[in-house]
Amino acid sequence: MTLPKIDQPAPTGAPAARTANTAIAALAESSADLIASLQHAGGAYPASPTFSAYTGYSWFRDGAFIADGMSSYGRAESAARFFDWCAAVLDARAADVTAIVEAARAGVPVADTAMLSTRFTFDGQAGDDEWWDFQLDGYGTWLWAVGQHVRRHGTDASRWADAIALTVDYLCVSWQRPCFDWWEEHAMHVHVSTLGCIAAGLREAVAVGVLDAEREAAAVAAEAEISRMLLTDGVVDGHLAKWVGSAAVDASLAAVVGLLDVVPAGSDLGRATIAAIERDLTVDGGVHRYREDTFYGGGRWPLLSCVLGLAQLRSGNADRARELLDWAVATAGDDGSLPEQVGGHLLAPDRVDEWVERWGPVAQPLLWSHAMVMRLSVELEASA
Ligand code: BGC
Repeated sequence: MTLPKIDQPAPTGAPAARTANTAIAALAESSADLIASLQHAGGAYPASPTFSAYTGYSWFRDGAFIADGMSSYGRAESAARFFDWCAAVLDARAADVTAIVEAARAGVPVADTAMLSTRFTFDGQAGDDEWWDFQLDGYGTWLWAVGQHVRRHGTDASRWADAIALTVDYLCVSWQRPCFDWWEEHAMHVHVSTLGCIAAGLREAVAVGVLDAEREAAAVAAEAEISRMLLTDGVVDGHLAKWVGSAAVDASLAAVVGLLDVVPAGSDLGRATIAAIERDLTVDGGVHRYREDTFYGGGRWPLLSCVLGLAQLRSGNADRARELLDWAVATAGDDGSLPEQVGGHLLAPDRVDEWVERWGPVAQPLLWSHAMVMRLSVELEASA
């Protein structure tokens, strides 16, 4: 693999001219093949096959977006096998979920350490390595991705019904809890993008139509309550906030506005959130996670360019979406692999070395990056 040079501006993905459609199509196709080739026999998608800290694990968050990318690209069978894996992970923990739900309903919620893990080994175990558990967003995103897949392909979701029900119960009693965010940080806060993922997941769980009436009513009520909170406590200066009480913006919010469609991209709040991400976090077509980011020096993430591109596209700005896609595509190495982040315009250049010493060079390929390029290219093409 060609590794990105985090301390140098290349590849920064700042193409002088528009990338050829054929180059985008080729990268989308090779991305689908790469993801398919790395998918575990049991359905799990590795986050990155080579990056030391991620090897051997599959995340619900990354995996849901990877499955959605594959599903949108016509690789329906691969996506369904990931959902099989998620369902097996959940079904094996039915007793844990029941205990968590009963404790919460009795007013004595379990400790964070007893909540479900963020990532699992390919054979569905929690694994021996410590991680930043717990995180709720992935349990929303897997439901959301199932819903999108069922809409798209008309798949019968009954084989995932038990796992969907368990997830709905888990989220309905837990969504108010502070937890780690998309970036596995700031566990003391309630994160607005996490709330958005949960709302999208509950909405799709209802739409899939496999819930009993009581559960469906609970999911509808929780989703309404989360949406109300998003539109009040989740807003600062007219845009979505990084967490409840924060004055900052986070690029993950572009998913709440675009792909997850919890806040319509064309609404005032959607447009203001897109504008804040463009203003505070975007250089050329590259998007930082948030202003205070220091992970590998705080570079720009191609997957976030695509997440923002989807929000721009859905707000009616196809030209900007295409620029963001072009930037992401230009971060590919000579072998066509996409990194987690690239250097140039680092937010904290003095914080690169500590991460390289700890975990080695930046993750490349990162499957989530590949999936987001596929996802945006599919939607741009459909809108042309
Ligand atoms: C990111 C997470 C991601 C994980 C695996 C972390 O560095 O912050 O969002 O889920 O890597 O790709």
